[in-house]
Amino acid sequence: MKHFTSISDIENPELLVQQVMEFKKNSFQPFRARGKKVGLIFLNPSLRTRLSSQIAAQNLGAEAIALDIGKDGWALEFEDGQKMDGDKAEHIKEAAGVMGRYFNVLGIRTFPDLKNKDTDYAERLLKAFIDNAGIPIVSLESAIRHPLQSLADLVTIHEHWGSVYKPKVVLTWAPHTKALPQAVSNSFAEWMNKAAVDFVIANPEGYNLAPEFSGKAQVVHDQKEALKGADFVYVKNWSSYENYGQVLSKDESWTFGKEHLSLTNNAKVMHCLPVRRGLVIKDEVLDSENAIHLDQAENRVFAAQAVFNELLK
Ligand code: CP
Repeated sequence: MKHFTSISDIENPELLVQQVMEFKKNSFQPFRARGKKVGLIFLNPSLRTRLSSQIAAQNLGAEAIALDIGKDGWALEFEDGQKMDGDKAEHIKEAAGVMGRYFNVLGIRTFPDLKNKDTDYAERLLKAFIDNAGIPIVSLESAIRHPLQSLADLVTIHEHWGSVYKPKVVLTWAPHTKALPQAVSNSFAEWMNKAAVDFVIANPEGYNLAPEFSGKAQVVHDQKEALKGADFVYVKNWSSYENYGQVLSKDESWTFGKEHLSLTNNAKVMHCLPVRRGLVIKDEVLDSENAIHLDQAENRVFAAQAVFNELLK
């Protein structure tokens, strides 16, 4: 593995899942990466990714240093050939180049602007770090993917798989007040399409994910039909890909509650967090034994630990 920015960077996802589970059994391994330094660069807010990545590095004996670059660093210029006489004080070429001299691995969180599909889907900011840092880059959620989340999600599904031969996994859209990125849903779809599961995506008309992410999944516009017999339900809002970045629906009949759960095979209910209670998922589900969202969040530590371990070898 040279970088960790999507499932395509990994030769064997199932082997990585096993490594994550090994780290969960025996997390504190301070000699694995003693003396190594992990940079964590945030252009956007985070609770889980920031804390889990710091703990993961510490568990390996590495030092993690986080920087909120939008707040504490200089404003960055990403365009080439600019005369920098505006409000951008530093070019990505120098900023990433310097960080490449300080760290052994660099994690980057950079959200989309949800205005220009082509720019967002070209992963311009993430690629600028890859091109200029000269060290392994880990996506801490990019414009269109969140692979550390998806790895933790796949591990969580394995933990709750039970005796079902091929579980039915449903990714369902839910309403939200704001236009959110497609990154978590894209990434989850990408990973589920490579897992040994029966994968279905439920979303209203106008919310189909990009075809390269929905892949071979069955896409259904009737949520209740999709939920029938589900073993796992991943509830998540995303803004429209087709009408890029738009909120086309706030239909609260898609808010996941007990009546939705009753259609499933007593499904485990997942969310990457943060979740808006009562709008995305009702309290009656989040506070029930079906909810495994805290397991997902816990597994973020060991997912990051396995990835850092590979890249720091
Ligand atoms: N799920 C997730 O990435 O959470 P944060 O945005 O808090 O890091």
